[in-house]
Amino acid sequence: MGIKVVNLFKSFGTPSVEVLKGINFSINDGDLVSIIGRSGSGKSTLLYIISSLDTVTSGEILYDQKNITQLTSQEIHLFRNKNIGFVFQFHYLLPELNVLENVLLPAYKLNTQVAKREYALSLISEVGMSGKENRKPGQLSGGEQQRVAIARSLLMEPKYLFADEPTGNLDTANGDKIMALFHKINQTKKTTVVYVTHDLDYAKEARTKVELVDGQIKL
Ligand SMILES: Nc1ncnc2c1ncn2[C@@H]1O[C@H](COP(=O)(O)OP(=O)(O)O)[C@@H](O)[C@H]1O
Ligand SMILES: [Mg+2]
Repeated sequence: MGIKVVNLFKSFGTPSVEVLKGINFSINDGDLVSIIGRSGSGKSTLLYIISSLDTVTSGEILYDQKNITQLTSQEIHLFRNKNIGFVFQFHYLLPELNVLENVLLPAYKLNTQVAKREYALSLISEVGMSGKENRKPGQLSGGEQQRVAIARSLLMEPKYLFADEPTGNLDTANGDKIMALFHKINQTKKTTVVYVTHDLDYAKEARTKVELVDGQIKL
């Protein structure tokens, strides 16, 4: 079981520019996958499409053999909320909410913020942010903000976690902490973790390494 990408093509704009040019690969459940490639090679586009945040031009994205490109936008929303965590290069925490409220944000949509409170606090502890629950993002370092964003992405207990250059704006010490968290999540929760990185050392830490060259996969 896992994710399968079949003959994926993606174009943007008019005249249309082809960014992903026939991508085929699989991700096994529980895998830890890195994606590298030059700037503009299509890494973010690929990650957004696999994680259902963007649509394909053609091709299939199968989750346990179910083609998610066929789902209605309502079905996709449900699927995403239930299964997928996403960490962006820029964390997108809400500045007016404190750490606990930011982590609980995905639960508000389903009105489960009370039930999820204990779990949110345990995630905050897991990412090393205990004692800072009441701080606003502006009172945190970049690395701390990114760790809060990771806690938030895990709140709904996603089976899959995607991260687009999550260490891109961090110094080595903070980048290392984020990578250690990914290993821990992958091992203890059996979450499938897929991350894009510029850092070749971080890329090597993955069990499966994928390189994108000009919109195609070089395994
Ligand atoms: N929404 C969009 N509209 C038009 N072109 C886009 C869009 N998103 C990405 N692109 C183009 O697709 C190519 C790949 O982008 P991207 O996936 O962001 O690459 P990477 O993450 O590897 O740097 C780039 O040439 C970029 O300009
Ligand atoms: Mg990118």
